[in-house]
Amino acid sequence: TPNVRPLVAGNWKMNGTRASLDQIKAMAEGVKGPLSEKVETLICPPATLLYVATALCDDSPLAIGAQDCHQNASGAHTGDISAEMIADCFGTYVIVGHSERRTDHAETDHLVRAKAEAAYASELTAIVCIGETADERKAGQTLDILKRQLSASLPDVATAENTVIAYEPVWAIGTGLTPTTTDVEEAHAFMRAELVKRFGAEGQKMRILYGGSVKPSNAKELMGVANVDGALIGGASLKASDFLAIYRVY
Ligand code: G3P
Repeated sequence: TPNVRPLVAGNWKMNGTRASLDQIKAMAEGVKGPLSEKVETLICPPATLLYVATALCDDSPLAIGAQDCHQNASGAHTGDISAEMIADCFGTYVIVGHSERRTDHAETDHLVRAKAEAAYASELTAIVCIGETADERKAGQTLDILKRQLSASLPDVATAENTVIAYEPVWAIGTGLTPTTTDVEEAHAFMRAELVKRFGAEGQKMRILYGGSVKPSNAKELMGVANVDGALIGGASLKASDFLAIYRVY
């Protein structure tokens, strides 16, 4: 999308111990320089590393975020973390509605929307994930699914500032498979049109990331597709060299 600053984001999922902080340190160093004015970078480590990770990025443009938050501000929710806790650790982003949360924790569009609202309340940017399964794609339902998930998972007060969309075809996550660039282009153009219909000029500027088996070898092609405003990277974001190679395709 012209005039938007792309976002190259890493989702570490349930990977990473204190030893992995060396990778964050290397990424924080590696993204320094003029390219960072053009391209924004973000790593979402597990919550256990959040506070230390933000400290390591003190003098770096690398942003740090979390992978999920609870929809409530506080209370009796054993094991959950709130958006306020993420902000308190100096995190600035939170992923909500990742397909692994939707599947493993039965998260619905309605819940994802509430989580995005909780993120806004703590001034976090929500990365709202959507995407079709293999069966849905085979049945020709991809665009219908994206339409439903966008409409039901996004709060009415979403803006280009507080919200990023991540399109992750579920069958492309961790599989090494990616859609063709034609398929990516079609899906992203469709999401763009839906966002503009609902949010007008904000929808035009809202970043739509592609996620699912992004790696250094395919990043240039995928990031070059119209309406792809960056990447949400799983496996290839664990290693600083891979993450930085993807950042540098811009
Ligand atoms: O959130 C990113 C993710 O689901 C993609 O994972 O390992 O296919 O890049 P991966």
